[in-house]
Amino acid sequence: MTNGPRPKPIPFDEIAHRYDLLNRLLSFGVDQLWRKKLVKNLPLGSEYHILDVATGTADLALMAARRQGCRVTGCDVSEKMMAIGRQKIRHKNLDERITLLSGAAENLPFESNTFDAAMVAFGVRNFNNLIKGLSEMQRVVKPGGIILVLEFSIPENHIFKALYLFYFLKLLPFLGGLISGNRRAYEYLPESVLKFPQGQEFLELLQNAGFHQTTCETLTLGIASLYRGIKQ
Ligand SMILES: C[S@@+](CC[C@H](N)C(=O)[O-])C[C@H]1O[C@@H](n2cnc3c(N)ncnc32)[C@H](O)[C@@H]1O
Repeated sequence: MTNGPRPKPIPFDEIAHRYDLLNRLLSFGVDQLWRKKLVKNLPLGSEYHILDVATGTADLALMAARRQGCRVTGCDVSEKMMAIGRQKIRHKNLDERITLLSGAAENLPFESNTFDAAMVAFGVRNFNNLIKGLSEMQRVVKPGGIILVLEFSIPENHIFKALYLFYFLKLLPFLGGLISGNRRAYEYLPESVLKFPQGQEFLELLQNAGFHQTTCETLTLGIASLYRGIKQ
């Protein structure tokens, strides 16, 4: 992890109305391919119940329910993000399979050993207490259940990294600010990614939270990483 304090998280309520549009534009649509990659690791079938922490506007929950046929419970601290998520769920007629609830990662409002898997996309970086959030995910997953974490990372190839950082640190805050009206939110994104543990360092946090057989797969030349672990 880069030294120095982590930047203060932005209130997602303020950018909720533009969140999906900006995700697609600023990632050139690749964000959905990354979510698809995560979802392929979930169990297949309506008997499985999956937790989506920091569900936001429910893109990951929707994809999991549609592709894997499972039930999904999503939770988040932003009511405005979830309000958009609920509209999308209704629109896709998936109300019976997806439920969104208010809840913080650090104090999940669920009994221990409830879910067959827990997942989080672009959420762990925003947790107030990362260790507590991961431990809570471990607590609510059943023994043998999987945790899947999708998060941005910084590419290692020097040339690609230089190009990517120019885009990430300069262009993205400008475009994000222009479209959302909240430039700070899109300055926070690269700042928080640069300060966030990645690769082996993040795997150690997963292990400390009680997950085993941990793996990390880098996606799109290292712009994102998919972490996996199993609760024994
Ligand atoms: C970048 S968005 C990701 C949303 C969604 N998972 C996706 O793939 O688009 C981050 C989300 O994390 C939520 N969040 C931030 N801190 C949280 C916490 N401590 N507990 C639960 N959710 C949190 C925010 O409200 C926001 O909706």
